[in-house]
Amino acid sequence: MWDFFETVHHRHSIRKYQTGAPVEMEKLNAILETACAAPSAGDIQAYHITVVRDEQTREKLAEAASRQRFLAEAPVVLVFSAEPVRSAARFGERGASIYALQDATIAAAYAQLAIVAAGMASTWVGEFDEPRVREIAGLEADQIPLSLLSVGYPAEVAGLSPRRHLDDIVSWR
Ligand SMILES: Cc1cc2nc3c(=O)[nH]c(=O)nc-3n(C[C@H](O)[C@H](O)[C@H](O)COP(=O)(O)O)c2cc1C
Repeated sequence: MWDFFETVHHRHSIRKYQTGAPVEMEKLNAILETACAAPSAGDIQAYHITVVRDEQTREKLAEAASRQRFLAEAPVVLVFSAEPVRSAARFGERGASIYALQDATIAAAYAQLAIVAAGMASTWVGEFDEPRVREIAGLEADQIPLSLLSVGYPAEVAGLSPRRHLDDIVSWR
């Protein structure tokens, strides 16, 4: 079992997955529970998670995402959608335009870490045709898909992903 910092540093985008290695239901549930443990504005959790296991649906998602084939090859795709109307009911315009997007994004980030802790890997896909993904995932009109996470056991070693230097990002006052 890795500690938290090891888990964070072992998370890399993986775009090749082992075929014939399904995601166990127990692990999938633990990942979903972890996503829902993320903080959210007013504890409203203004997001929806669609679990896509069906192969044909994953194929369609891959098509809608500029043919990013690994979405079809991964055994599971998680679609994280914001629910602005839910957050707006309490927080008005700020809830709709900011909090709902943040709620959904934080939940997806937690899911990415849980996936690593469960011995698997993912890639966050943001490049997709929004109306098509909405239709394929069976979303409601007020649900905005933000990220597609491919989930599965990795079949490649992750490449290095360099980061900007801390001094370039952080300022101290
Ligand atoms: C908002 C967002 C959108 C992204 N969209 C894509 C995408 O459409 N396709 C893809 O292969 N990777 C996508 N990525 C993954 C990034 O390319 C990746 O996280 C980055 O290169 C750093 O690599 P690492 O995840 O291995 O640390 C996206 C990541 C984020 C956060």
